[in-house]
Parts: sequence; C-alpha cells; structure tokens
Amino acid sequence: FVKEVICHKTIDSTNNFALELCRSNQVSGALLILTEEQTAGRGRGENVWWSTDGSLAFSLVIDTDEFRLPQELWPQASLTTGLAVCMALEQLLGEGHVALKWPNDVHLQGRKIGGILVEVGPRPSGKLVLGIGLNVNNSLAEASSELQARATSLFDFTGRDFMRTDVLTAILAQLEQQLSRLALRDPLLANDWQSRCALRGKTVEIDSGKKRVQGTCQGIDVDGALVVVTEEGPQRIFGGTVTHID
Ligand code: BTN
Repeated sequence: FVKEVICHKTIDSTNNFALELCRSNQVSGALLILTEEQTAGRGRGENVWWSTDGSLAFSLVIDTDEFRLPQELWPQASLTTGLAVCMALEQLLGEGHVALKWPNDVHLQGRKIGGILVEVGPRPSGKLVLGIGLNVNNSLAEASSELQARATSLFDFTGRDFMRTDVLTAILAQLEQQLSRLALRDPLLANDWQSRCALRGKTVEIDSGKKRVQGTCQGIDVDGALVVVTEEGPQRIFGGTVTHID
C-alpha cells in the first residue's frame, strides 16, 4: 500500500511538506511522510495542532487515480480517514470508547485524541494529502488545564506506552481498507461513521461560516453531511465548526 516513506526529525508540518512535493510533482503511489516533531502543525482553518514527544504526526499522500477516487468522493475522504483511525484504535483498545466527532476529530471517551486534516494537492496533480495527528505516548499532563479538559492520549487513557509503529501500522492497514470501500462506494461505509458519530442525539450549535445552526444532531448522512434538526426542520451541513454540545 505505502510505496515510499520519508522520515523527518523536525519539520514545520508534514502536510506542508506533502503539498510541496505534490507541487514539484515528486509523488507516485502512496507516500508516507512522518516526523518526530512538528514546529507548525496545522489543524482546520486557523487552528494549530498541539503535539509533543511521543505523539504521531504523519501525512499520507495518495494518487486519486490509482485509488479510483473521483473528485465527487473527495469530500468524504476526511470522514473515511477518521473512521480508519477509529477502527485502528478499536483494535488496540476494544470497541465502545472511540468516536468520530464530525467533521474531523477522533474522540476517546469524550476527549479529543486525534485530528485529521485532508487537503487537496495543487491541480492538476490529483493528489490528496491525508494528515493525521494522534496523541499516543505524550501526556496531556504537560498541556494547559483548558486543553487537559478536552483532550487525551493513549497513554493518559491506558496508563501505558504503545509502540508507535504498531499504532501507525494499524492505522495504515485500516486506511487501505476504508479508502477502498470509499472507492467501491460501499453503502455500509456510512453506517460505520454513523454508528461512531459522537454528536448523534446531542443538542449542538454549528458555525458553518455563513450561518449558525442550532438543533439536535441526527448523525452523519451517507454523503458526509451532518444532519441537524432545527426549529425550521432538518438541515444538512457540509462544513463548519461545532461550537457547543449539550
Ligand atoms: C485538527 O485538529 O483540526 C486537525 C489536526 C491535524 C494534525 C495533523 S498532524 C500531521 C498533519 N500535519 C499537519 O500540519 N497537520 C496534520
């Protein structure tokens, strides 16, 4: 599945590096970019990705032609990547603890353990950059109390260290499987992200850029939209930030 691996000790962001490689047309097949430390890890929008020693930060660059992922499926790549991370964590921890928080977070017992940043390579490269950050052996005890309250790591949850190569291998194996389900338009793929939706049944407020939507979340639709039942009826939201959960 992965044809080439590039390892860094320190880099600004594995996604930046990946996008740069796509720009210079140096990618074929699936390329993995790994780093021990990121100095400017990015999250969605203006967000930064906090990570310290012992976490995992990597980007997988895939050629969408090779993976038979036409452009209409690209918006679902982020949820599919999140699902792959959830499934890998379930293999390591057992089921029931991990959830997908739409649109791009992975939660462990209500706290963020990982983030996904999917970016489209410069046209016409047809590349997708799947960036994944996961708190593994780093402890949130080193973070601010505000972050401690809403984030966690595998170490914080289990009290033990993990072999990061095992975690990485499990995620990559799941990515290969889930991306191929997406390419095959497996109708059960949506069931898998729906059953792991952290917001389902909750009262939510979503800032989708143009408007704020409040209501009860019904879950994630087959095309990746979040369905929120508002006073005006159900609304399908394709992108945004969850600003409140009850
Ligand atoms: C988020 O929480 O909004 C997404 C965080 C994504 C972080 C990962 S770490 C590897 C890759 N490189 C980056 O700069 N960001 C992603």
